Amino acid sequence: MREESPTWLVTGGAGFIGSNFVLGQRAAKTARIINLDKLTYAGNLRSLEPIKDDPDHVFVHGDIGESPLVAEIFRRHRPQAVVNFAAESHVDRSIYGPQVFIQTNVVGTLTLLEESRRYFEGLSADERDKFRFLHVSTDEVYGSLEPEAPPFSETSPYAPNSPYAASKAASDHLVRAYHRTYGLPTLITNCSNNYGPLQFPEKLIPLMILNGAQGKPLPIYGDGKNIRDWLFVNDHCEALALVLKQGRVGETYNIGGAAELANLEVVTAICGILDELRPDSPFLPHASLITFVKDRPGHDRRYGLDTAKIARELGWRPRESFMSGLAATVRWYLAHQEWVESVQTGEYQQWIKKHYGPEAPKHTGTERTSCIR
Ligand code: NAD
Ligand code: DAU
Repeated sequence: MREESPTWLVTGGAGFIGSNFVLGQRAAKTARIINLDKLTYAGNLRSLEPIKDDPDHVFVHGDIGESPLVAEIFRRHRPQAVVNFAAESHVDRSIYGPQVFIQTNVVGTLTLLEESRRYFEGLSADERDKFRFLHVSTDEVYGSLEPEAPPFSETSPYAPNSPYAASKAASDHLVRAYHRTYGLPTLITNCSNNYGPLQFPEKLIPLMILNGAQGKPLPIYGDGKNIRDWLFVNDHCEALALVLKQGRVGETYNIGGAAELANLEVVTAICGILDELRPDSPFLPHASLITFVKDRPGHDRRYGLDTAKIARELGWRPRESFMSGLAATVRWYLAHQEWVESVQTGEYQQWIKKHYGPEAPKHTGTERTSCIR
């Protein structure tokens, strides 16, 4: 007899990675999904349109920090797993206003853990064996690497540098504590920079694609030599599904793309793809739009991840190469004007003005190059 498909509570499933995960899992019919999302500026129901009539995707509009709501979801839907994507995720926003990062990423995660623990303790021994709490976290908890240093491994010490990274580090520690103290079967993943369809255009890659296509300046912080490791979002989602099914309880897994690149290299590559896809553009060559602007305060110089553990234990490796994934991403943004317009709302315009406009705060006392048109 075939086993009935499980129910998972996914939080933040209307955001970038969460929506890609939910769409992928529903396409594969691996689980019935209860999708709890607050629909902040970063959450968008349009991203979930392909499954709007799917009876096995239940969207719940709400906050992970709302205890009674989370308890009610557990009572009503009895999930076998929780996958926690919900977070404030943009480093620059955390510099302007850290409070909401602490509220959602720390207090919200604590509430979700507490309700998960209550629910877990009421399960039968067999149900407890199967239950998992997967917390989706970031490589930024490890801090910044020196140019020649080996990449971060799962045993690297935590040294977060931005309010965002500090809030994610705090949530990782809480997840770990809930495993050690209460026996909650947790898993933590720390992933590098994701890119791909459905990413909110405040982040480097979609911002540069859309600005480039519209002939707007491409604002590069500092000298453009800060290095990030890039992973195509579907590869991250596959890794998460694997960790959920086969990861060892209580463990942490690093997930990365083995694609360390300087920001300037990434933006130049986007410009090259735009030149090819839009040979008649009035903005050729798109690289002429590159503008160096004042650096991000506390800007981490380099991230890189050693992913030997997930490769060895779970057989995971990224499938997508950076250049093919990037070209697919550029094509996706150019072909999905409706989605783009739906997220470039008043809130987005305000953010762009506040952060890149002439009125942007001069974080460290020196002049910021304004690059808004
Ligand atoms: P995102 O900002 O695109 O989406 C976050 C989602 O969470 C949104 O849908 C938002 O509405 C929702 N949300 C925010 N606060 C909430 C709350 N209090 N209750 C319920 N829902 C809430 O983020 P993302 O880039 O998809 O990142 C998802 C997760 O992955 C985050 O935890 C982030 O820290 C982590 N992560 C992201 C990356 C990356 O490169 N984007 C890399 C590694 C890890
Ligand atoms: O490393 C994983 C992290 O990657 C995730 O945990 C975060 O949620 C996610 O936002 C991302 O953080 P970054 O700060 O690395 O991503 P962002 O896209 O904001 O910036 C990438 C790099 O590009 C970074 O070095 C800053 C730089 N940058 C960014 C923007 C928005 C610019 O030079 N100009 C810009 O306008």
